[in-house]
Amino acid sequence: MEQSIEQTTEVLLCLSPGEAADLKEGINFLRNKKTGKDFILYKSKNRVRACKNTCKHQGGLFIKDIEDLDGRSVRCTKHNWRLDVSTMKYVNPPGSFCQDELVVEMDEENGLLLLELNPPNPWDSEPRSPEHLAFGEVQITYLTHACMDLKLGDKRMVFDPWLTGPAFARGWWLLHEPPSDWLERLCRADLIYISHMHSDHLSYPTLKELAGRRPDIPIYVGNTERPVFWNLNQSGVQLTNINIVPFGIWQQVDKNLRFMILMDGVHPEMDTCIIVEYKGHKILNTVDCTRPNGGRLPEKVALMMSDFAGGASGFPMTFSGGKFTEEWKAQFIKAERKKLLNYKARLVKDLQPRIYCPFAGYFVESHPSDKYIKETNIKNDPNELNNLIKKNSDVVTWTPRPGATLDLSRMLKDPTDSKGIIEPPEGTKIYKDSWDFEPYLNILNAAVGDDIFLHSSWIKEYFTWAGFKDYNLVVRMIETDEDFSPFPGGYDYLVDFLDLSFPKERPSREHPYEEIRSRVDVIRHVVKNGLLWDDLYIGFQTRLQRSPDIYHHLVVSSGHVPTSGAARSGEHTVHRLWAHSAHLFREASLSPQVLEPLSNKTPSHATQLEVLPDALWVEQT
Ligand code: FES
Repeated sequence: MEQSIEQTTEVLLCLSPGEAADLKEGINFLRNKKTGKDFILYKSKNRVRACKNTCKHQGGLFIKDIEDLDGRSVRCTKHNWRLDVSTMKYVNPPGSFCQDELVVEMDEENGLLLLELNPPNPWDSEPRSPEHLAFGEVQITYLTHACMDLKLGDKRMVFDPWLTGPAFARGWWLLHEPPSDWLERLCRADLIYISHMHSDHLSYPTLKELAGRRPDIPIYVGNTERPVFWNLNQSGVQLTNINIVPFGIWQQVDKNLRFMILMDGVHPEMDTCIIVEYKGHKILNTVDCTRPNGGRLPEKVALMMSDFAGGASGFPMTFSGGKFTEEWKAQFIKAERKKLLNYKARLVKDLQPRIYCPFAGYFVESHPSDKYIKETNIKNDPNELNNLIKKNSDVVTWTPRPGATLDLSRMLKDPTDSKGIIEPPEGTKIYKDSWDFEPYLNILNAAVGDDIFLHSSWIKEYFTWAGFKDYNLVVRMIETDEDFSPFPGGYDYLVDFLDLSFPKERPSREHPYEEIRSRVDVIRHVVKNGLLWDDLYIGFQTRLQRSPDIYHHLVVSSGHVPTSGAARSGEHTVHRLWAHSAHLFREASLSPQVLEPLSNKTPSHATQLEVLPDALWVEQT
């Protein structure tokens, strides 16, 4: 029977009548000395608005924004998001999020109370107490990257199977050698969860192999506004049992097993995470979410897994000119990696899972032409994170090797049990040392000679199809070879987004300008198939310069900025930087009615795009 779960109210801060009277007009930073929690109050005449001093992005602390002359906004110390506390809306990223407001109540003596209304947690509905687990009853086997194979009693569930081929065009390749029986493992799954649309989670090369054997395999995805399988028809992969489930509702698999998909607080349009519960024992997989479920997550779960690595963004390594020296870039990513590690360690400390497993960051830029990226785009070491976690808590950590299996029952009972973790057999290859580049590069290369590129009219058709204009920005697009030198006979053209024209020379008016060099095979493949520009940007297939170094950015109207795992880890505002190009075509690409290749399209798929002001890029310097 369903247990009724009620909303609760918590008093977070009490101000005495004197303290309330002392509040100044505008922004006030206050701390509850007992709890150590910080708050921001905005007073305007007789009205007071309040929120926690916690950034929606990754929980950073806000301070006074010295650039704000009106005295209404505060700036996050972590990645410079800005919040207008007079409206409780973020102004950077613009039009993006609202801050959760606290209820402000005046007591009889004119003191103030800050109250938080806590809605019930969805996973607390129909609660189950943990039951005894036999040894071997729940086993979690790591395959690669974000892919786990879970044995849950007599059921099997697999997360995010990327087990063959590249992701993001040809930019990402598997770091780990998956166990040789990976396909058998996928085939015998009772259900597969795919967290989001990025190709290191939704891997069509992998699904193609699986569909050849089990086209009816049940796949579960969240009901995101941007459908995970938006591109299924075009992919040619035949899957017949895709289930889209609502957020925050238990999906009962059998009497012992259920799962619940939750959305991300920063990218609810595309990112999800999952809680799996077997006989009352919870496994939480936050995957790539920046702020999974807005920061509300179950505590003390049996096992938690999350991303940790960073480095999954074209920023800043694909940028040059101006401040983007090698030294600046190296320092920037070092600082970002550290922030990400601290954030993850903090999250784990707060949630106190019994066991924590860092995963979903095991890719390598292994194609020889991406040597520069491979050498410079350093990622976090999972052991560093685990050490950080161990310093602050008694959470058990597990950094799995491919094919390693964790026996949950044994580990919960005794984390030192030598049979708690079964390592892959001696001599098992852990790291890949060769990748089958050719078939995938051939697919990309096939686009280079496609008929649609015989006539330059494709340029107008493509950009008109995207429909973005009325913005003062000029972009020079250059098709290049592997080394980002102009491709012989390739296109090199200007797009003026103010009137969506294609001038021969830069206009005489003042305008921000960007130069985007893209490898010809990838850009043409993306254009021809109406794919996301993530393949170019996250896949490191472009080089960018801009002038002047100011930040004018555009995103799709609905504020959808799909990001990769990394993009969520503090780089995601950066990801938007690319928006005036990278996301230019995304909205159109994602509409179900425009899934046919460009060559079949008429320019009627215009989409409304929104201009983001400079602030977005007053970034993580
Ligand atoms: S945590 Fe505030 S901007 Fe990232």
